[in-house]
Amino acid sequence: MDEEGLAEISARYVRFADAEALGRSPLYEALARAVAADRETLGFLSTLPDMKRQPNLLLAAVRHLFGTPTGWTEFRQMLLAHPDAVRSLMLQRSTQTNEPGRCASLLPVLARLPQPLALLEVGTSAGLCLMPDLYGYDYGRKAIRAPVMALEPPVFRCSASEMTPLPTAAPHVVWRAGLDLSPIDASDPAQVAWLKTLVWPEQTERLANLQAAVKIAATVKPRIVKGDLRGSEFVRLCSEAPKDATLVVFHTAVLDYISDLADREAFAEQAMRLAPYWVSNEFPRTFPSIATRTGTSWPPGRFLLSVNRSPVAWTDPHGASLTWIADELNGPADAEHLR
Ligand SMILES: C[S@@+](CC[C@H](N)C(=O)[O-])C[C@H]1O[C@@H](n2cnc3c(N)ncnc32)[C@H](O)[C@@H]1O
Repeated sequence: MDEEGLAEISARYVRFADAEALGRSPLYEALARAVAADRETLGFLSTLPDMKRQPNLLLAAVRHLFGTPTGWTEFRQMLLAHPDAVRSLMLQRSTQTNEPGRCASLLPVLARLPQPLALLEVGTSAGLCLMPDLYGYDYGRKAIRAPVMALEPPVFRCSASEMTPLPTAAPHVVWRAGLDLSPIDASDPAQVAWLKTLVWPEQTERLANLQAAVKIAATVKPRIVKGDLRGSEFVRLCSEAPKDATLVVFHTAVLDYISDLADREAFAEQAMRLAPYWVSNEFPRTFPSIATRTGTSWPPGRFLLSVNRSPVAWTDPHGASLTWIADELNGPADAEHLR
């Protein structure tokens, strides 16, 4: 690979350090910056296909095989002593981080839609975001308790801006289904181990919440179908939702995986044709036509939550915070469809 190619990989790791790891994982931030400056590691990454060079995938693969390193020197030793093992794991797995904490971002929207709900999540991973009604939430000034179950539910903390219309109760979900290219089975210990490694180091509360959500998924077994969100399975699942419930098609941290903007837009059109509500929680670059409705400067490192193309809130990518923007942007009339 030429110098330009290596510089591109390096820039990707700097972007990850600046926009994603900064303030969330000091270890990942330091490792990403060190990778960006290390020719040998960049050379290793250049032997992988472009979509397999993601910082999250490299960092998780090394930790999965050798444990969490204390710092760059140890990380580099682990990687360069076993490049084939790391490469093979990176080729075999993908970043399917399933973050149930993102339900805290979705909840204010879901609770305002006409109940009961039929939830269809595309890019569902292990289906942990398909169970927003089974978790507890702590929004600081308001808490929502999980329904009483034999299992200890996770409680997601989310700091929500003052204007956020916090729900008084969890949504009433009567049907749920997920679609994924490569579904994860929450009752398979090896698959769950990989999901756990995808949680960043230092984030012990996130890990504990993930484990609690995985236990619920292993019991509830939300229906997950293998398939591409651009394919016929999506259309079929939409048609299977009960007609007396409000069908909500949603996704979080998924559409970025579709590299072509025209394909992403085609999915959006299809989702809005097949369901009364399409909820997207993605980086603003994923749907620039929606993000530009908020203005031209987008807060770094935040997802944009939107409903049927109307921007609703800026959200932390893992669901830790939420800034409501719907009413000021869309006005009360447009926001009406959310009530
Ligand atoms: C980063 S994970 C996010 C999982 C979950 N939505 C969440 O927020 O926790 C992205 C998921 O999207 C799935 N995915 C990517 N492209 C897809 C496609 N074209 N069709 C269906 N699923 C896809 C991946 O397999 C992966 O499980």
